[in-house]
Amino acid sequence: MSSNCALILAAGEGTRMKSSKPKVLAEVLFTPMIDLIIRAAKEGGVDNICVVTGHQSEIVEEHLGGKYRTVKQEKRLGTGHAVMQAKEFIKEHLHENILILTGDCPLMDSATVKAAYEAHVTHRNAVTVISAKVDNPFGYGRIIRAKDGKFKRIAEEKEATQAEKIINEVNSGAYWFSCSVLLDALEGIVAMHDKKKLPNVEYYLTDAIEVIIDKGLTAMAYEADSPNVVLGVNDRIQLMEVNEIARKEVLFKNMLNGVSIPSMDGVVISPDAKIGRDTVILPGTIVKGTTVIGENCTIGPYSIVEDSVIEDGVTLNNVHCYSSTIRKNAKIGPYVRIRPNCDIGEGVKAGNFVEFKNTKIGSHTSVAHLTYIGDADFGSNINVGCGCATANYNGKEKFRTKVDDNAFLGCSTYLVAPVNVGKNCYTAAGSVITEDVPDNSLAIARSRQVVKKNWIIKKKPYKWQK
Ligand code: UD1
Ligand code: CA
Repeated sequence: MSSNCALILAAGEGTRMKSSKPKVLAEVLFTPMIDLIIRAAKEGGVDNICVVTGHQSEIVEEHLGGKYRTVKQEKRLGTGHAVMQAKEFIKEHLHENILILTGDCPLMDSATVKAAYEAHVTHRNAVTVISAKVDNPFGYGRIIRAKDGKFKRIAEEKEATQAEKIINEVNSGAYWFSCSVLLDALEGIVAMHDKKKLPNVEYYLTDAIEVIIDKGLTAMAYEADSPNVVLGVNDRIQLMEVNEIARKEVLFKNMLNGVSIPSMDGVVISPDAKIGRDTVILPGTIVKGTTVIGENCTIGPYSIVEDSVIEDGVTLNNVHCYSSTIRKNAKIGPYVRIRPNCDIGEGVKAGNFVEFKNTKIGSHTSVAHLTYIGDADFGSNINVGCGCATANYNGKEKFRTKVDDNAFLGCSTYLVAPVNVGKNCYTAAGSVITEDVPDNSLAIARSRQVVKKNWIIKKKPYKWQK
């Protein structure tokens, strides 16, 4: 199918979203709708994609990052008009079929796109409209069929008669057209528009269907298996509804794969994440991006894991973890933040209230309380006392700290980077370590305690001593 092309209509304003951003960048499961639609086209077998931009075109184009062809629709005069702007693109693919998708129907999927294409070529259709039966057809174009079931035309909400309005098979806004037929039909839409004497100049892409049928060519409405593929996002309530459908679909898929999600409350899992068997995901947990979580883990409650690798048997309780690896059986939390580029070793214990950044922690090291470790390489079996910190930043540059295996950092040890603490070393509580500590040493870096006996009595009288 690689010789086919796709056009994505994304010029609309999305007024009802009440947003300062273009509607197609609104996110479903943390992915902008435009990306989901492009993915449906690509995974549906299409390589050449062109996007029609208009409202806030610069922002949409910047998002696309030059990866796809774009054409600008200066004035928004309807879906037919949007397609007319891409005439050059369509001409370049004259002997192919073109997939047209709308930028605001994020649940259209590649399986439906492919199945519709099969129907399109098998029946040698000039156009194949993807339709679905929905509970509430309001707002959608209705699929009008003849008595024998043959597809005749699409009646838009504004023009539909009462009898047509009760039809619940609707147009998804996605179609396969023969490119040459579409080019011809676009010329015909103008005529149709004049014929209808509409008050506002608007060119409906749906009118192309009638033009095609009038020419004696075959048009077909292919009914999709799932009604969700037609769901459009026009306001934030619909955005939430679409998110809910997508969210549950992913959660159910994970449950059927052996992941326990005892309550779905606040649980969102990316469709691109992989989670192993017997792992439990607790409420309030968000798994984003391409995260991979192993088996027998407990993730949550209230955790965020993004683009990370979590090995088997890990516990994350109230943890935020970004772009990092956490190795087998580590017990992290509560209240731990793991910022990008960390490698937390096997069996590590961390938390409460601990932050790691750009740091490697060796196996079975314990960082149990109130600590910041940034830009550091810690070995194995280290014990980090309460309230330790790496001073990794001098206001301009960042430096690394190295602590070797079996070290014991007393409470409130500050490691002023760059600095190295050798194997088996101890640091005294309250030390500010500014110089390297050789293997097997104790470092004390604080002033000795001074006790001034009866100091208070000599200072007499204090208010409270009157
Ligand atoms: C359209 C269909 C309707 C279908 C519905 C499915 C027409 C006339 N109607 O209606 O049959 O059931 O989609 O969601 O096509 N757009 C542009 N330029 C424009 C106008 C729209 O690029 O000038 C884009 C929008 O950004 C949007 C898509 O086309 O992504 C659909 O436009 P919209 O105005 O939402 O059409 P609907 O009224 O929903
Ligand atoms: Ca719409």
